[in-house]
Amino acid sequence: PELPSLALRGTTLRFAGNPFDMPPQDALLTDTDGLVVIESGRITAIGSYADLARDLPPDMPVTDHRGCLIGPGFIDAHVHYPQFGVIASYGEQLLSWLERYVFPEERRFVDRVYAGQIAESFLDSLLDHGTTTAAVYCTVHPESVEAFFTASQKRNTRMIAGKVLMDRNAPDYLRDTAQSGYDESRRLIDTWHGTGRQLYAVTPRFAPTSTEEQLNLAGALLDTAPGLFMQTHLLETVQEARWVEALFPHRSGYLDVYDRAGLVRPRSIFGHAVYVTEQDLTRCSHAGCTLAHCPTSNAFLGSGAFRLFDALRPDRRVAVALGTDIGGGNSLSMLRVMNDAYTAAQSHGTSLHPVQSYWLATAGAAQALGLAPQIGQLEPGAEADICVLNPMATPLMAQRAERAETVPDLLFALSMLGDDRAIEATYVMGRRHNPPSR
Ligand code: GUN
Ligand code: ZN
Repeated sequence: PELPSLALRGTTLRFAGNPFDMPPQDALLTDTDGLVVIESGRITAIGSYADLARDLPPDMPVTDHRGCLIGPGFIDAHVHYPQFGVIASYGEQLLSWLERYVFPEERRFVDRVYAGQIAESFLDSLLDHGTTTAAVYCTVHPESVEAFFTASQKRNTRMIAGKVLMDRNAPDYLRDTAQSGYDESRRLIDTWHGTGRQLYAVTPRFAPTSTEEQLNLAGALLDTAPGLFMQTHLLETVQEARWVEALFPHRSGYLDVYDRAGLVRPRSIFGHAVYVTEQDLTRCSHAGCTLAHCPTSNAFLGSGAFRLFDALRPDRRVAVALGTDIGGGNSLSMLRVMNDAYTAAQSHGTSLHPVQSYWLATAGAAQALGLAPQIGQLEPGAEADICVLNPMATPLMAQRAERAETVPDLLFALSMLGDDRAIEATYVMGRRHNPPSR
């Protein structure tokens, strides 16, 4: 079917630059009566309504979002769709939580039909929360990947996903082998990487559940097609870090385990990184990889608090994006993740500005993942993946919004008080997805 052409009227949000390199309030350009023009699913113009409305094609529909903020769709850089069903599970920290809740649930994804059902409801929920792109872990079963990409393709969403590689220290019903993991990943790459908007991520779960042989083959997989991603976990908890030291005594550290396998490179996404050292950050900065900061999960599982401003230190800046980490995280809302990123930064005595957290959830993530300028910003030429935020979504939010004197302050209130109720509409390549409450 043909991609839509339409225009959106409201308060438009654009970035003038990286809010970590300039006064953050200057990095956001806002127009309270702006217009975004979309033709065949792509943004062709953005500016003031007064300037652009005259020249619109006469049959182009204009959707009125005045009073709302029109910005890029959110990017969730770390999430597990098979854990959608065990979100909000009580009482464990990482390793025991995996055993008690996650592994038994992931077992069910051997069933293509079940996987399809969860993939469909997960993707609808993501869109309800204003998220249009995510880096997604599937399970060890190729069926779980087929199910996910099929559901994403149906919605025309730009998703990054891959089959989990796990050949040891997991229940036998969840293990592959180094060779079968390689072969199945290879087949999935051929089928899905670059098919429509879908992108593949080679996905070793984390160092404890892969042999060195499997990690090396994961590195080899990355060279079998251009533009592949890699995603895994790194230094999420103290206990996990100790386990990795015991399993890889001949390596100089956790990151080194991945590095020796050729996994530390651009388009590699390392989840959590709560306990990274100065040396790790220097290495990541040189390698051009990305750290996925998952503060909601880190708080929920009691893992610790990532040192965001340390990672972003200008002399050896590491790219950072934000992730929900469902089901370690207990919300799919990137507004909630921005809230928890603020709290995590506060715990280290630093304040994360709303324009900075918004950047990390949109344009900054796109840049980190090598997906700019296609997504993450409302600029001509970009794919029209758009999230419209309603700062007056609830009575509490409305009374706070009335006091906001600037758009950054409105964004801050949205991030502190908002969730999916604040998502007025989500557009995927210009096609509107209405949250159920609308
Ligand atoms: N480390 C290894 N697997 C996982 C997982 O599924 N979730 C989180 N949060 N950490 C992990
Ligand atoms: Zn995770």
